[in-house]
Amino acid sequence: MAARPDECNRTLRRLETVSRCPALKQPPHLPFFYDSIFPAELPEKYGVNYMTIVERECLARKVAKEAGAMLKSNRDFHARIKGEHDFVTDMDEKCEAFIRNALLSACPEDGFFGEESGGSKEHIGRWIVDPIDGTMNFIKGLPNYCVSIAYEQDGQLVLGCVYLPETDELFSGMLGQGATCNGKAIHVSGERDLSRAVVSMSFSHRDPKLRARVMRVLPQVADRLNDMRRFGSAATDLCYTACGRLDGYFELGIHLYDYAAGAVILREAGGVVTGWDAWEDGIATGNILASNGHLHEALRCALTEK
Ligand code: IPD
Ligand code: CA
Repeated sequence: MAARPDECNRTLRRLETVSRCPALKQPPHLPFFYDSIFPAELPEKYGVNYMTIVERECLARKVAKEAGAMLKSNRDFHARIKGEHDFVTDMDEKCEAFIRNALLSACPEDGFFGEESGGSKEHIGRWIVDPIDGTMNFIKGLPNYCVSIAYEQDGQLVLGCVYLPETDELFSGMLGQGATCNGKAIHVSGERDLSRAVVSMSFSHRDPKLRARVMRVLPQVADRLNDMRRFGSAATDLCYTACGRLDGYFELGIHLYDYAAGAVILREAGGVVTGWDAWEDGIATGNILASNGHLHEALRCALTEK
């Protein structure tokens, strides 16, 4: 018989306690939990092999925290210019190498796509990693930077982990299973009134055309909101929307590794991620409009109204 969602959550919590992922040379095998965690209809509904996703979520959490600890304890880094208005540090590179090695030695059959080392699309399962989302915050000593790890199966984003070392917050989401922050279930805000909403945004520091488009609509959006924020980390914006600290977030032309993990977490917390236009798939284009769901259309109107 299919388990009820609260049973699933209880079992997931039990699973977290018993399988703290010790060394993870081998992914943990937990067959006796499988039926109670994932009712029969779930794999059918989402077309996902949950057994492998549970193992990988556990691995992703462990690796994200270890990478975050490396970042927090290492302020002796070197920053250099990567492209126009674009900086990278040796910690971005070291962390990505660490994450890549940890993930692929546990799951050698997987592919990998990271901000610093690139990657390919050829694998059925693929990790999508930003070792530091919010590199400029990291360089400046501002707290809003994070490690972002997502996993995609057959082209579908199925899990996301985002770790913010400065606040020691680990956000996680698994397709069809909800989202958590430090193990506690999180949900989007219930705000339905745009004039009371606080929404975060960002504009490209690399592409002047995209920057101009965001700048052009800012006054009309700001007029309708209670207030706006700019944290400088897309993954953080998405997680903050997922746990209700923000009511929404928008940005144009960002990269898959910036938003993949955050998008899973937000959707699993009850939020919505689309493109700016009604027909647009934001996950494909990187033009992201994210919200608690209730405000989505109102926010879209405010953004796209000429
Ligand atoms: C950046 C951050 C920022 C967003 C940029 C991204 P990075 O990621 O997510 O919020 O405005 O578009 O590139 O470069 O720090 O990994
Ligand atoms: Ca980055």
